[in-house]
Order: sequence, then structure tokens, then C-alpha cells
Amino acid sequence: MPATVLIGAQWGDEGKGKIIDYLAAGAEVVVRFQGGNNAGHTIVTKDGTFKFHLLPSGIVYPGKAVVIGNGVVIDPKVLLSEIDSLEARGFPTDGLRISDRANVIMGYHCMLDGAEERHRGGKKVGTTGRGIGPAYQDKVARSGVRIAHIVDRELLRARLEAVLPSKERALRSLGDDTRLDVNSLVEEYGRYGDALKRYVTDTSVLVNGALDRGAQVLMEGAQGTMLDVDHGTYPFTTSSNCVSGAACAGAGIGPKRILKIIGVVKAYTTRVGEGPLPTEQKGDLGRKMLERGGEYGTTTGRARRCGWLDIVVVRHACRLNGLDALALTKADVLGGMDEVQVCRAYMLDGKEIANVPSTVEELERCEPVYDTLESWPGLKADDAKGGYGTLPRALKDYVRYIEKGARVKIEIVSIGPERWATVER
Ligand code: IMP
Repeated sequence: MPATVLIGAQWGDEGKGKIIDYLAAGAEVVVRFQGGNNAGHTIVTKDGTFKFHLLPSGIVYPGKAVVIGNGVVIDPKVLLSEIDSLEARGFPTDGLRISDRANVIMGYHCMLDGAEERHRGGKKVGTTGRGIGPAYQDKVARSGVRIAHIVDRELLRARLEAVLPSKERALRSLGDDTRLDVNSLVEEYGRYGDALKRYVTDTSVLVNGALDRGAQVLMEGAQGTMLDVDHGTYPFTTSSNCVSGAACAGAGIGPKRILKIIGVVKAYTTRVGEGPLPTEQKGDLGRKMLERGGEYGTTTGRARRCGWLDIVVVRHACRLNGLDALALTKADVLGGMDEVQVCRAYMLDGKEIANVPSTVEELERCEPVYDTLESWPGLKADDAKGGYGTLPRALKDYVRYIEKGARVKIEIVSIGPERWATVER
């Protein structure tokens, strides 16, 4: 059975956790393939609300294999605390498997993240401060520490002796004189390695084996296409590829293994951190979306910037990810508004354009061209019970409008955070 990949079609926070949770019911293996604990996935089940940063969302289904692939950067302290709190709630984590090739976020990566941001002055990225960028920098520079190193103290010591001097120099150049002590880092990260050892394996072998057996594998992306380090609003992006193509490298599978690619799109647009957001609504309207949508970061608690849906962005995501289907989330949040607007194109320097320009300087100058649509009445989770046909007409018109603009079918409509507030077409 081939794999399904699910990714974010905007700037992250599209509600991927909820859709992954919904689809995970039918999957045997759920895999994360990029990002780290900058992500925050919220899932609401009958057992309560779960917030995950590193654990794949499928973990709340007992009996599934959940995999943290080699493309993820792992802060072992954060991962252990997520494992502990889940087990304390009565959910076993025996099905978790962690790639021995994944890179580790070390304490000094978090220090470097903060120091780099301070040195950017007025040009801050607005990172989550979780050490993501510096950990990926080290991976690509071949100065990283991998999970395989922390489960073996001798390997860990050798690795740290090789990389720490350059890390100290990097910190010093940013005005931080912290001394990095090999012995205490071997002790601290060796302990994390001891605790994680039982989960560590070659996850590429595991995932390919599952696919060979005919198991259904769901690959869950973190962040979103507009935060992708190549295709997003660079440099106001994260440090990994968030597009569907990254699933292969980040999990160790070949492209032909993937059959279906689903993009998650929120009924409006949000972003956290700095960088252009053409449809941003800075006044009352934006505040209304923020409050009604509960648009506060799962990871940092920061208020998200909000604005109307941007079809130019959604189309960009459809093309880059090769989307087969869309899942529309948070349609309830726009219910009861006076009207709904959608950006269908940009005006850039007097010319109408249909694609996202490559520089943030140009994107900052883009003026959205809006279409105005009718709003629909407020919705409750139970309104999903009657199926798609019973949803308000104006919402179905909105769905059709998006499909026409994106040229991709919307297969799932979510009208609330609960598992059951989901309508399949
Ligand atoms: P970093 O990933 O911590 O380096 O942050 C880089 C940019 O990506 C910042 O603007 C963050 O707010 C944003 N970002 C990172 N992860 C997420 C996410 O899961 N959702 C939304 N924004 C994110």
C-alpha cells in the first residue's frame, strides 16, 4: 500500500494535527519527516485535548507505529517530557520509533538561535527560539550530533570533542561567552540517550518494510509551504523543506512510494513571526479572526497575525506539493461574518500577477485583489452529523470558489476542533 503525505498549504497552523488525527484512524504507521519542536499540533478527542510538538499525532491511537524520521531535528529533553506526560495520561508509547539518523537539538543550538535573532536587529525572523535553525545549520555543515551518537557515550564524546570548539567560537562571535563542557554534555545527553534507546532504530527500514507489507502509511508534515526554506517567504521561513517532496528524504523512502498528497488549508490565513502577509487585517477584523479562531501559537503562545484567504498562496502550494486534494479547516470561524473576502491575485507595481514573487521585498509591495463572497451562519460541531449536503449553501459556494481557484478538490471540511466536527465529501 503506498504512502499518503499531508502538508500545510499556508504558513503553518492550518489545523494539520486535527486532519492527521482524523486520517490516522485508517493508517498503520504515522511518520513525521521534518521540523522539530517548533511545531505544535492540537488534537481534541473524547479523552481530552492533546498538544504535541515532536510526537507524531498518531500516538493517541494505541497499537499504531509512530515514527520520528531522520529529517526531524529532535530536542531529546522536550521529547522525553512529551513521552512522560502522555504515559501519565494512560497512553502507552511502545509504538514510537525514532530514527538513529535524526539530528539532535543541543542546548547550544537554542542559545545560538537567541543570539542570532538578537544580532539580526530590526530584521528578526521571529523564530520560535527552539534551536531549529542552528540545528539544521549544523546538520548541513556536517557538524551535527545525531541520535545514534547520544545512545553511545563514546561516540557522543568523540562527536562533541570535534564540534564544540566551533560552537564556542560561534557563540563568542555573537557576544555569548558560555563555555561548553564536554563532560557535562556527555553526561546530560547520554542520559537522554539512555532513556530514548528503546525507541531508536533505522526507521527507513521500518517504514519501507511496512510499505512492502501493504500497510497504510501516513506522513505528517509540520509548518507549511510558505515557511519552506526554498519556496516560502525567504528569509522569513523555517530552516527545513516543508513541501511534500521532503517526505522522501526525511523518512528514507523513494518518491514512487507516495500515492496521495493532501494539503491542509485554513478558511483564512494566519502567520506567526515576521515577514510579509499580503491579506493581513490589522484592525478589528483581524482581531475578530484571532479571537474566534483561538489563533495563539501552540508552541510559543504568540498571537497569530490574521487575514483573508489568499488563493495565490494556495495555488502556489498546490503546484509545489503536487496536491491531489485539499482539507479545508476552521470554516466555522468565518461563519456569521458580514461577508467573506478572498484574494484571487496581486497587484505588483501596477500589474496584476497570479503567482507568489520570489523576494519578500516584492511580496511586501503586493496589493491583494479581492473577491467578496457571502458569509454563512455560525456552525457547531454537531452540524457535521448531516454530512456535506446539509452544510450552509454559502459555505458550499466558498468551497467551490476555492476549488476553482486552486484547481484541486476539497475532500474534507472541518467545522470545529473536535474529531467529529469533520465532513468528508
Ligand atoms: P523557527 O522554525 O523556530 O526557526 O522559526 C522560523 C519561522 O517559522 C518563524 O516565523 C516561526 O514563527 C515560524 N514557525 C516555525 N514553526 C512553525 C509552526 O509550526 N507553525 C507556524 N509557524 C511556525
